[in-house]
Amino acid sequence: MYPIQRNRRLRANASLRALVQEFSLSPNDFIVPLFVIEGTQTKEEIPSMPGYYRMSIDLLSTHVKSLWSLGLKSVLLFVKVPNALKDNLGTEALNPEGLMQRAIKTVKEATPEMVVMTDVALDPYSSYGHDGIVEAGKIVNDSTIKVLSKIALSHAHAGADVVAPSDMMDGRILKIREELELANFTDTVIMSYSAKYASGFYGPFRDALDSAPGFGDKKTYQMDFRNRKEALIETQRDIEEGADIVMVKPGLAYLDIIRDLREEVAVPIAAYQVSGEYAMLKAAAEKGWLDHDQIMIEQLLSFKRAGASLIASYFAEAVVKLI
Ligand code: PBG
Repeated sequence: MYPIQRNRRLRANASLRALVQEFSLSPNDFIVPLFVIEGTQTKEEIPSMPGYYRMSIDLLSTHVKSLWSLGLKSVLLFVKVPNALKDNLGTEALNPEGLMQRAIKTVKEATPEMVVMTDVALDPYSSYGHDGIVEAGKIVNDSTIKVLSKIALSHAHAGADVVAPSDMMDGRILKIREELELANFTDTVIMSYSAKYASGFYGPFRDALDSAPGFGDKKTYQMDFRNRKEALIETQRDIEEGADIVMVKPGLAYLDIIRDLREEVAVPIAAYQVSGEYAMLKAAAEKGWLDHDQIMIEQLLSFKRAGASLIASYFAEAVVKLI
């Protein structure tokens, strides 16, 4: 009771505050998403993601070396596939010489200890821009997960350390795990996008990869943002099926879900601070309405406080330079 307890005592100066701080950010926390395109010496800024680029494979090599020198230890690869290579079955995703497979090898060569994570998904390869095979206007589950498991295997063959299915089909983790085990990829980690909501925050990402759905939306597979308990069901199921790391996505508007999962499951939880979250801060900072660096750190720290062990963030490089 006051004045015996004065809560301000431990806030009196920066040293005291540092001694009693509960959470902090370090390069070990981050996953750096990277957008890869065909071409050479090509770097294109994504209009709705100022300061973020798609880059060709040759540039990727120098870029990952610089990320590694900053202490960053993992990248998450996404590819922008030329339209001519897209079809309903995502055939190009299985090409051993495809853009993703070449990107994986490039990163592994440039920075052998960098943890290479890959997006396992159909949408960048789909002529419909959906995360599944389309039949009679519907996204079909069981034929999709067969293809996804082959894609994961192809990434493992190319050298991926972690495969990250981002589609939200039922049973895909088990299918991928079986496929990897059969081929003796017993150490390949599966990071499951286990609680991924159908969200408006993915807009800029779909610009980046030109992967917006051609018809309808993703609400028959991604989760309804009006629901909370469903996140636990989805996540527990994925762990039973063989996921090593689970994920909540988007991040900031779903901190309650991260906290729920932290209390219920024991595996590491990743938070994905998605493209729309990045775009919002960039836009507000551009207008001079918010202090970019202060808000960046405050938001990223909130993921740690909520219970995330890993954070996929387009701010990873910037924040690591700052801390
Ligand atoms: C699709 C995928 C999406 C993102 C990652 N993987 C978009 C979607 O589901 O439509 C979004 C990432 C972001 O917004 O930063 N497989």
